[in-house]
Amino acid sequence: MKKRLFSGIQPSGDVHIGNYLGAIKNWVRLIERYDCFFCIVDYHAITIEYNPEEMQRRILNAAAVNIAAGLDPNQCIIFVQSHVPEHTELAWILNSVTPMGHLERMTQFKDKSKQHRENINAGLFTYPVLQAADIMLYKGEAVPVGEDQVQHIELAREIARKFNQRYGETFPDPVELLSEAPRIMGLDGKTKMSKSLGNYISLVETPESIGKKLATAVTDENRKRRADPGNPDICNLFTLHKHFSQKEQIERVNTECRTAGIGCVECKKILSENVIAVLNPIREKYESLIRDQGYLSDLLRSCAKKCKAIAENTMADVRKKMGLT
Ligand code: TYM
Repeated sequence: MKKRLFSGIQPSGDVHIGNYLGAIKNWVRLIERYDCFFCIVDYHAITIEYNPEEMQRRILNAAAVNIAAGLDPNQCIIFVQSHVPEHTELAWILNSVTPMGHLERMTQFKDKSKQHRENINAGLFTYPVLQAADIMLYKGEAVPVGEDQVQHIELAREIARKFNQRYGETFPDPVELLSEAPRIMGLDGKTKMSKSLGNYISLVETPESIGKKLATAVTDENRKRRADPGNPDICNLFTLHKHFSQKEQIERVNTECRTAGIGCVECKKILSENVIAVLNPIREKYESLIRDQGYLSDLLRSCAKKCKAIAENTMADVRKKMGLT
């Protein structure tokens, strides 16, 4: 029997190359080795301000982009969190075994509280408990995520153990799996690439827009003139080269940047061509998928049905162990 893999993505804006390199590419790579569940986590996305009229479009977009990026729906389950309400039922139960102090330590809560000062709601605070419930409902063991989610998965592990100690062995330990690019920086070179900061290249960005965005992206700031040698080790765009360019191109940029043999303009041009070559087929597939909203909706509903059967089983066991039946 294959081990179960669970991961999720918020329908809270454009899916970007940080999501792709940090998570989605790894999901695609692992799809044959595990029994895979990928969730569009709309209940998570409502913890920040959003427009209800846009939510359905965002959900379908997230599904289409992920399928276009390689998540083959014949090989995995792709579903919407709110189609399986057991996620929130288990989250409530897990709240009762989660120490407040653990939630107070979560760096994402601290960051988001600063970003959304006018809306620091309880959902934002208990968000990691819902995330633990997502994984545990399906008894997920492998959880491929970017680095920013590792603290949440460590907490999920603690929550699973606390539940098991209190009510008897029920859940396996969820373990985070990191990709080769667990933390992609934004085009400003200073902060993590993120939907909310607008410092990203979307997975369905057009070639023109990719060129423009990379042309203004921050490189090694100590390199002021073309004749100055640069340091690829601290240049964010060199990191992107490592993930999008050919081996010889990476080697050339690495050596010639240090001797000022290659300038930032040429380096960015090579990178643009390579990013475009990777993203073009994804964008084209996305465009054809998003035209067929009936197909996407049916797929998400039928996946949710399969999830619901598993979720109901888990909840029956949980309620029984807790004396709630
Ligand atoms: P979300 O929607 O913010 O991001 C989806 C995935 O992309 C990764 N990621 C990155 N990786 C590398 N560099 C970046 N700049 C970057 N930005 C984002 C994230 O680490 C994530 O893996 N809470 C989660 C969703 C979630 C979940 C779950 C994940 C809900 N329940 C259960 C795993 C298991 C989130 O907000 O991801």
